Amino acid sequence: MSAPQPVTAPAGPADVDLSVSVGTLLFQNPIIAASGTFGYGVEFAELVDLNRLGGFVVKGLSAQPMAGAPAPRIWDTASGMVNAIGLQNIGVRAFVAEKLPLLRAYHTHVIANVFGRCAEDYLEVIRVLNDAEGVSAYELNVSCPNVDKGGAEFGGDPIVLGGIVGEARRVSRRPLWVKLAPTVGFIGLMARAAEDAGADALTIANTYPALCLDPHTRKSRLGSTTVGLSGAAIKPITMRLVNEASRAVKVPIIGLGGIESPGDIVEYVAAGATAVQVGTAHFVDPRASERLVEGLEKWCRNDNTIRISELKGSLQKS
Ligand SMILES: Cc1cc2nc3c(=O)[nH]c(=O)nc-3n(C[C@H](O)[C@H](O)[C@H](O)COP(=O)(O)O)c2cc1C
Repeated sequence: MSAPQPVTAPAGPADVDLSVSVGTLLFQNPIIAASGTFGYGVEFAELVDLNRLGGFVVKGLSAQPMAGAPAPRIWDTASGMVNAIGLQNIGVRAFVAEKLPLLRAYHTHVIANVFGRCAEDYLEVIRVLNDAEGVSAYELNVSCPNVDKGGAEFGGDPIVLGGIVGEARRVSRRPLWVKLAPTVGFIGLMARAAEDAGADALTIANTYPALCLDPHTRKSRLGSTTVGLSGAAIKPITMRLVNEASRAVKVPIIGLGGIESPGDIVEYVAAGATAVQVGTAHFVDPRASERLVEGLEKWCRNDNTIRISELKGSLQKS
C-alpha cells in the first residue's frame, strides 16, 4: 500500500489560496463534508463536484454491518435538528469492496470514520482499512458507549480516551484524527490526552446528547431517546471548545458544528481551527459544501485575504 498522496488540484482563482495542511496531508481548501451527513460520498457524486471539496468523511464504519435505530430518525428543532440514526452502516468490508473502488476516481481526500463498542472493534475496522487503497486518514468517533466499561463513552474519560487512541495509533498505518465528544468537563484535558496518545489531528466536535419529546404522547419524537443535536444552534458552544482546545494542543484542529456560511468558516479558523467540516447544512442543500468553497473564495477576495491559513487563531481580544 502506498502512502496517501497530497491532493494538490488548484483551489480556484490564483489570487486566493484556500489550501491548508492538516499534519502531513495537504487539502486544496479547508472544507470537508462531515461523517453521517454525506453518505459514502458516491451518493452525492451526481449533484456535487466532489473534486471541488477539500475532502469528505464517510459514514461511521463498524466491524460488522449495523441496522441502526427505528424510524423516525431526524426531527427539526429551533436552529438545528436532532438525529437518532443509531450508527447504521454497511460495515467496513462492504465499504472496501463496494464503495472505495468508485471513490478512487475522485481527486479529493476520503476520510474513514471509525467506531466500535469495544477497543477490539475499532482495531478490526482499522486493520481492514489499512489494506485498502484510497483512504487518506482515519477519524475515530469516540462518542460511543464502551461495553467493557458499563456503557460509558470512550471520549468521556481522559484515561479511557488515551487508551483507545494509543491502541488505534499502534495499529493504524495512516494519519489518525480523533473526533472528540462535546459534553466533557474540560475539553483541553481531553484534547491533550488524545494528542499525547498519538492523535495527528482533532475533530471538534460531535453532536450534543439531547432529548426531544412530543408533548401529547410524552414520548421521544424519534424512534430512540438517545438523540444528538446539531446545526446552527450548537455553533457558538462548539466554537468555544475549538478555541479552548487550540490553546491546549499543538496538533491541528478541524472545527465543526452549525457551519452554514463562509463567515462561519472564518469564525472557526479565527478561533483556532485549521480546517472545518460541514454536516447538517447538507440536509438543507446537498451542495452546501461545494457552495461554501465558492463562497469562501469570494469572502477572501472581498476581505483582501490572500491565504485562508493566515487567519488561523486570529481571534482578537476585545
Ligand atoms: C444524521 C447525522 C448522522 C451522523 N452520523 C455520524 C457518524 O456516523 N459518525 C460521526 O462521527 N458523526 C456523525 N454525525 C455528527 C456530525 O458528523 C457532526 O459532528 C455534527 O452533526 C455537528 O456538525 P453540524 O452541526 O455541521 O451538523 C452525524 C450527524 C448527523 C446530523
